[in-house]
Amino acid sequence: GQTVSQWSDPTTGVSFWRYHEQELDATWGYIFPPISGGAAPDDFIGIFQASSSTGYIGNSLGGSMRSNPLLVAWVDGTTPKISSRWAESYSPPSLYTGPRITILGSSGSNSQYQRIVYRCQNCTSWTGGVNGISPNGTHVFGFAYHSVSKPNTPSDINSGLYRHTHAGQYALDVGNARTTSYDDFLKILVNAPPLSG
Ligand code: HEM
Repeated sequence: GQTVSQWSDPTTGVSFWRYHEQELDATWGYIFPPISGGAAPDDFIGIFQASSSTGYIGNSLGGSMRSNPLLVAWVDGTTPKISSRWAESYSPPSLYTGPRITILGSSGSNSQYQRIVYRCQNCTSWTGGVNGISPNGTHVFGFAYHSVSKPNTPSDINSGLYRHTHAGQYALDVGNARTTSYDDFLKILVNAPPLSG
């Protein structure tokens, strides 16, 4: 089962819109700032959450794996990591610069689950693929998940990695995920303690 719905994160109280894969008990969540002055801001906050034994969790900002920015996240022990990647074909993605990623508080791992919460700037438009995230209305994102294997060198965001055990797409309404509380949520997340233990 798969659902897209609003979800209040019990750890921080921040309300994300998320795709939830029940079988994997994995979450891909987003919030976007309000559109002001007619120009779409290039910023969003995202969360990846899965069991602590999961290898990695990632997304495609444009739905398809090919020709769109990919983010892949994992924990090295309890240290959260995110790497931005790009692939022109269904083969191991290369490093990709463009997204400015800041890992936010409440990220880490405990005995049950891992979560990587991040701010992604310069992340809503690019050249190639679908060229960007729809500023309003439905947008198709992709997901990728490895149930057991971390990247080969977990400390290194440039590390090689194995092909996902699960991948697919989901549609999420970006307009719904825009919130006037964006700046407040960002503050809460910047200040939240890391997840550990
Ligand atoms: C789909 C290969 C890594 C994101 C696919 C498919 C292949 C493939 C063959 C289509 C069949 C399927 O759904 O499984 C690979 C290989 C990788 C790799 C060889 C080597 C490491 C990644 C990574 C991400 C990613 C790191 C994102 C962080 C996706 C997404 C889809 C997908 C979102 C579903 C949408 C689509 O079919 O384009 N991949 N992948 N892949 N992959 Fe990958």
